[in-house]
Amino acid sequence: MTAVARRKPGNREHPRRRADLRTRTRQYLIQAGGLLGEERLHDVSCVLAALRLGRWTRQLPAPSGGTKVRADRLQTFRDGLALLDTEQPLYLEFGVWRGWSLRWWLDHLDTPGARFVGFDSFEGLPEQWRPDYPPGTFDVEGTPPPITDPRVEFEVGYFDQTLARFEMPEHDRLFVNIDCTLYSSTACVLEWLEPHLRVGDLIYFDELPEYDHELRALLEHDRRTTLRLMPISQAKGYYWLFQYVP
Ligand SMILES: C[S@@+](CC[C@H](N)C(=O)[O-])C[C@H]1O[C@@H](n2cnc3c(N)ncnc32)[C@H](O)[C@@H]1O
Repeated sequence: MTAVARRKPGNREHPRRRADLRTRTRQYLIQAGGLLGEERLHDVSCVLAALRLGRWTRQLPAPSGGTKVRADRLQTFRDGLALLDTEQPLYLEFGVWRGWSLRWWLDHLDTPGARFVGFDSFEGLPEQWRPDYPPGTFDVEGTPPPITDPRVEFEVGYFDQTLARFEMPEHDRLFVNIDCTLYSSTACVLEWLEPHLRVGDLIYFDELPEYDHELRALLEHDRRTTLRLMPISQAKGYYWLFQYVP
């Protein structure tokens, strides 16, 4: 058996050997990358996103009993609903498409003072999202879903345009549903949202562990905002509900 020489702490060879190992590993990864398709590369970025999400959430304040791990996103919606127990809640949804999640909230949030606003261009994603989601995915020809509930209004257009003229309705607690998938769209919403946020408000992300999309925008938002995000619950590691705390 070959004897392995023990290096004293501070020995100069260690960093060089580590650097060599990093260089070799990087070269292998570059070769491997040449064999991968865009979809597999995206999968790898999702692995990194899950790790980053785990590291970040570990530093956040936790609810008593810890962040609940739910089986599906409807259960995270229910957790949000239970915390939206004020007289004048306001539900803002960014990314409505055919109105599936908006309808769920209309059916379940029956507080008389509740109001709902759905933001969407209804022309689909303005940019490429995942490799298999080109610009225009989710296009419904500019038309909001046929929802006639008088508590809802739609802000039709791209967020940067509709938010520039949108006046926040009076409310005593906010629920923000981020389901617009792209970094640029999420970042635009979060920057607009920051001066309006108050302790107790809630925010939900529908596709959080996407390294270059919702997660990146959320981490930037977390660095800018003075309020802290508390992860209330999550389902499948994908659907995340947070509450703003002091
Ligand atoms: C995943 S879909 C929303 C799904 C919907 N919440 C549901 O329950 O089925 C994403 C939507 O975000 C919209 N969207 C993304 N970025 C946008 C932007 N910058 N401005 C306006 N709409 C945007 C797209 O048009 C699309 O309808």
